[in-house]
Amino acid sequence: MRSIVVGTGSYAPEKVLTNADLERMVATSDEWIVERTGIRERHIAAPEEATSDLALHAARKALDMAKLDAADVEAIVVGTVTPDHPFPSVAAVLQGKLGNKRAFAFDVSAACAGSIYALAAADRFVASGAVKNALVIGADTLTRITNWKDRNTCILFGDAAGAMVLAPTEDPRRGLSTIQLHADGSLAHILLQPGGGSRDPISPEMVAAGRHHLFMNGREVYKVAVRSLEVNCREVLAAEGMAPGDVTHVVAHQANKRILDATLDRLGIPASKCWMNLEKYGNTSAASLPMTLDEANRAGWLKPGDTILMMAIGGGMAWGAALLRW
Ligand code: UT7
Repeated sequence: MRSIVVGTGSYAPEKVLTNADLERMVATSDEWIVERTGIRERHIAAPEEATSDLALHAARKALDMAKLDAADVEAIVVGTVTPDHPFPSVAAVLQGKLGNKRAFAFDVSAACAGSIYALAAADRFVASGAVKNALVIGADTLTRITNWKDRNTCILFGDAAGAMVLAPTEDPRRGLSTIQLHADGSLAHILLQPGGGSRDPISPEMVAAGRHHLFMNGREVYKVAVRSLEVNCREVLAAEGMAPGDVTHVVAHQANKRILDATLDRLGIPASKCWMNLEKYGNTSAASLPMTLDEANRAGWLKPGDTILMMAIGGGMAWGAALLRW
């Protein structure tokens, strides 16, 4: 048995922050941001909107498409690193908001790779027959931990949520087949939120030093991302007996246009096969992959039998790639 995606949904908050807005906040320019990242604007959660609120919008849309009652969901897995609270999980809070009493619910922490990790976990529950359906979410409000004085990072991130509903199929020509996940914890220091956890608990000193903000060595992340994603995608394609040219579409975490272009170039896949939306949303962390899948799906881009190569990488470092037959 395999799992197939029977519903997708996404949500981005109303407020838009443009590159011109950022020019008024830090020493940067629209030209620099577009040339180095491909981003033109990003969405910012309202003060009263937490990660589970974004997730709820995306979940409802995906459940509507799947024609599944929220009460009948059996598993909820959320990829996030910006939960409403340190605990309980966003997944549990979301289960409550959906009025569901049936599903077990947990979060996965793999930063921008959170939704591919969540997808891998949920896929196992569905494909093994342990549950009949699963709600997989990627949701983050990274702008809540962004240092708005650091031009190296504040131009990159936006808030959003994406959702996928998984159901089982006996059809071997459809659904998720290979998913390969990886991590390299020796690189934990190049992309992290240093303070606020057990290593450096919340204190006036920690906050005054700004260690509650996201820190990133962008250049290092960039190098690891291009190298790792290429190897990861080749590994997935080899397991499927496919060549890069056999892929119909690429749905990837939208971190930076240059990272994606370079990865696709190394793989020999034309950039036109990759759905891009980073211009409008920036890097939305775990939300990015399911939100991109939802946009491509609602645009009628995905046809039955299409092969979709998925990939994502983020802090950990953690990354993964998967092959989905639509
Ligand atoms: O989802 C996974 C998480 N993150 C990522 O995928 C991000 C990966 N990394 C990147 O996307 C890129 O490394 C960045 C977009 C973050 C930076 O691009 P870069 O080409 O690697 O630039 P850089 O960090 O090497 O900086 C080049 C110059 C520096 O100035 P100097 O030292 O050469 O004078 C920076 O200070 O650009 C400067 N700079 C800026 N200038 C204008 C850095 N940020 C900005 C800015 N506006 N916003």
